[in-house]
Amino acid sequence: MRNAEEWTTLLSIGTEGGTIELKGAERYDGWWDFRLRTDESSEGVTYHTAQGAKEDGLKLLDGIAWMSLYPLYVSPEAAGAVEKKVLHHKYRNESSFMAWLEACYPEAERKAALLANWLLTAERTVLFTGAGMSTESNLPDFRSKEGWWRRVDPRTVATPEAMNQDYPLFKDFYAARMASLEAAVPHAGYYVISSWESRGMVQAVATQNVDGLHRKAGSQRVYELHGRLQAVRCSRCDEEAGEADFRKGRPCQICGGKLRPGVVLFGEILPEKDWDEALLAVQKADLVVTIGTSLEVYPANQLPLMSKGRSVYINADYSGTASDFDLVLEGRAGEVLQEVDRLLKSVQL
Ligand code: OAD
Repeated sequence: MRNAEEWTTLLSIGTEGGTIELKGAERYDGWWDFRLRTDESSEGVTYHTAQGAKEDGLKLLDGIAWMSLYPLYVSPEAAGAVEKKVLHHKYRNESSFMAWLEACYPEAERKAALLANWLLTAERTVLFTGAGMSTESNLPDFRSKEGWWRRVDPRTVATPEAMNQDYPLFKDFYAARMASLEAAVPHAGYYVISSWESRGMVQAVATQNVDGLHRKAGSQRVYELHGRLQAVRCSRCDEEAGEADFRKGRPCQICGGKLRPGVVLFGEILPEKDWDEALLAVQKADLVVTIGTSLEVYPANQLPLMSKGRSVYINADYSGTASDFDLVLEGRAGEVLQEVDRLLKSVQL
């Protein structure tokens, strides 16, 4: 028998009738004795005992829906095992779940932890990215202070009329963007996304970006809604052509037409297959995570609205558009994704 003072309180949970208390005592050999006290039953206090490794104590709680009760105390010794349960718990808006999240994670980590929980418990997750996903790979976005459209009027370079009326300006603009792509490599956030896909947590990525970085980082199912910069083709006969020819201002070798980058210009329709498949994926998803886009460009900006599932917005600047989302994480995409990934890895089963 152990003295009362040898037992440490590992976890204490409030119930309508009183408390559930899990205590533990470490043995000399590193294993633990556990004792669970419940005063739920009409017969009064009940004790259950067990032995095992430090994290095994929670097994005494199997059969009790303790996530729908409220935490009173989570000890540092139990925190790791409790976090594992919390992040894997498929919750349906019970307020007690938020109390568990608060008990386990400091405020600065709580939103990332909630997203980690949603990622772990969703059936189908789709990510939807914009130019803000690539600024940490040193590619400017369009509408931020350093963005392309603050320096160049899109009407002069991003429409079919612009291509026809001032081809040299049109060509120089996209040739400069192609040149900046040469040195661009996916940042760590891109690799987080591709690893989530290979771990079965993400079903697809729909992107407005034309830089090809998702594929470069290993993402497999990528819908490129605005095309791909380097997929040069003839504006007249549609034949594929080389990027080098476009950058040098050469005409199409087949018909002599003007070469153009494989991006969607304003006023053009989106690549049908990519759009249809992205739409279907979003409609089937129960979680859509939108990352680094101002949501200003139609029709891609409609995509997050097409899902009945949970919606998340990750952006460096919190803006009014975010009010449509269930959860908003303000921060740089790469940093937020790495933070969520760290939490996911900390609770790997
Ligand atoms: P925008 O430039 O409109 O928006 C980028 C968003 O990302 C802004 O809200 C930024 O605050 C945010 N952002 C910047 N850096 C970030 C970071 N490191 N982490 C998180 N967020 C960050 O770009 P898009 O919404 O992608 O179309 O623009 C949509 C389309 O407009 C583009 O695909 C392009 C452009 O015209 C075509 O080229 C067809």
